[in-house]
Amino acid sequence: MSAFSRFTPLIQSLPASVPFVGPEAIERNRGLSVKARIGANENGFGPAPSVLRAIAEAAPETWKYNDPENHALRQALAAHLGCRPNNLAIGEGIDSLLGQIVRLVIEPGMSVVTSLGAYPTFNFHVNGHGGRLVTVPYVNDREDLDGLLAAVRRENPPLVYFANPDNPMGSWWDADSIVDFARALPETTLLILDEAYCETAPEGSTPPVGALIDQPNVIRTRTFSKAYGLAGARIGYAISTPGTAAAFDKIRNHFGMARISTAAALAALEDQSYLREVLENIGRSRERIGRIARASGLLPLPSTTNFVAVDCGRDGAYSKAIVDSLMEHGVFIRMPGVAPLNRCIRISTGPEADMLLLEQALPQVLKTV
Ligand SMILES: Cc1ncc(COP(=O)(O)O)c(C=O)c1O
Repeated sequence: MSAFSRFTPLIQSLPASVPFVGPEAIERNRGLSVKARIGANENGFGPAPSVLRAIAEAAPETWKYNDPENHALRQALAAHLGCRPNNLAIGEGIDSLLGQIVRLVIEPGMSVVTSLGAYPTFNFHVNGHGGRLVTVPYVNDREDLDGLLAAVRRENPPLVYFANPDNPMGSWWDADSIVDFARALPETTLLILDEAYCETAPEGSTPPVGALIDQPNVIRTRTFSKAYGLAGARIGYAISTPGTAAAFDKIRNHFGMARISTAAALAALEDQSYLREVLENIGRSRERIGRIARASGLLPLPSTTNFVAVDCGRDGAYSKAIVDSLMEHGVFIRMPGVAPLNRCIRISTGPEADMLLLEQALPQVLKTV
């Protein structure tokens, strides 16, 4: 394939890849159709009816660019979180914010600390900016705060990534340990505290917003993709000091946020009773996944997210065979990418119809793999 000859050396050295193969690609490539979409940690319970109404109302205005300052959403989020609007930066999902953060601090060759097997889109951005990933293994299926701190002290990286609760394992730390970790970091290392799943996390596991808001080397990232059910609308935000938050304005896409998405986010924030309903549904579905797994002799790991990692007791090849065979039954799930985490499969919560398909397919699949 011929390509333009003056791409940067970095771009020329990178493989053309996407960190995730989407369910649509699997359908196209394998000629299969997804009946239970429980692999991408989306929220199959969907957004609130009030959000859908807000989207419909915003639709005729879509000929207009959005307010590039995202003023209304920042005001509403600040009121919701108990911080100031200038503590916030808005972006097209956490994924986009991760790319911007890496761009803000990483030059080619610089080290970046993360956990071995943690959220791969972050690694994708680090590679895309020429960073050098330094990985710390999980301990007991949890990201290892002591290990991450030791790696930071050793490498003096400009950036360390940590998700609480964690994807792909669904494990979590208590708020005090996280605050201690953040405070122990050198001022010259920026912490991304990825809180994509904070709404589903139990009380006491998410530090209060105020706890880290004065620390310029901490950026907390959150999203409307998970509990709020708006993954396709692409709305995320970062919480940090005003000075750190302002740095995003130097590089972000100023018209990146869709008007319709912003309207959806504003309505979602207002409808906290729907959020509570969804959180109950997610909790019930987690238990349902646990029962389905146990009935087949598999071990569901504790989770505070909208997915459950299920230990299949063997190696990654075995888990992959289960993932691939479930897809033959129309059940789309995923699995962690590296050992020893890849002894697990990862199943997102979802409506009962999806759980029924999983319940029917899993025992059949386990007989054949
Ligand atoms: C830990 C973590 N961070 C970020 C994201 C992506 O969030 P967004 O949809 O806001 O880009 C995910 C989605 O799976 C995730 O698991």
